[in-house]
Amino acid sequence: MLKVKDLVIEPRGVKKAVVSNASFEVREKEIHVILGPNGSGKSTLAYSVMGLGGYKPISGSITFMEKDITNLSVTERAKLGITLAWQEPVRFEGITVSDYIKAGMSNRDESAVDHALSLVELDSKKFKKRFVDNSLSGGERKRVELAAVVAMEPKLMILDEPDSGLDVIVYDELYQLLDNIRNEVNSSVLLITHREESGEVADSATLIWEGKTILSGRFPIVMHKYCTMARREDKCRKKPCLMKY
Ligand SMILES: Nc1ncnc2c1ncn2[C@@H]1O[C@H](COP(=O)(O)OP(=O)(O)OP(=O)(O)O)[C@@H](O)[C@H]1O
Ligand SMILES: [Mg+2]
Repeated sequence: MLKVKDLVIEPRGVKKAVVSNASFEVREKEIHVILGPNGSGKSTLAYSVMGLGGYKPISGSITFMEKDITNLSVTERAKLGITLAWQEPVRFEGITVSDYIKAGMSNRDESAVDHALSLVELDSKKFKKRFVDNSLSGGERKRVELAAVVAMEPKLMILDEPDSGLDVIVYDELYQLLDNIRNEVNSSVLLITHREESGEVADSATLIWEGKTILSGRFPIVMHKYCTMARREDKCRKKPCLMKY
């Protein structure tokens, strides 16, 4: 469904390639995890796949559903069914949760808002009229953002660290939600995360290191490589997600 090939990205204003050779593939209805340490180029890659201005690749190609989208704008890519949820969720003073979710929906139906909120396990009666600002906790804002992405019924969801800022107990719950969403909306998910726990739902993964693809394949193998390169083998081997395979 998504094929990224030999991508080189120099973000606008940066004189060197932040992503220097990235290649990976996301299949239909698959959860594909991008692993890599801080500063390895994961968000840059996500922005470039979404087509954000300033992240146009200088070489390589991005193909989505057999169509070359390398030179398409963010709007054109959104129309094809690609959406992105930010690493830092947005805050909009004065906009209610309900209006925020409706903004991306083709059919602005109240029951669809309720449904999207129920998928992320937020009580719509309690949350619909709340504002998307600091009064929501970090975790609640992440869920609202996820609900907004789900409501768009995208073909590909790019989620940049949806687990950052959540407490440990919530990780598993979040990955379960992603699994529910993937099954319900029939979306593919490009998930950026550092967390081993994402292996509970991930089908495949790509390891990015200093802007380069090191390995792409089944999640446990790629996660193991990540742990080896980061010199954290012991921690990773103990994880049940690795023992499952
Ligand atoms: N617009 C920019 N201007 C200057 N440097 C940038 C810009 N965009 C990215 N970089 C640099 O490129 C590198 C990769 O950044 P990126 O945000 O893609 O990393 P990441 O893998 O998402 O990291 P993290 O895990 O911390 O979110 C970093 O060193 C970052 O400082
Ligand atoms: Mg990032």
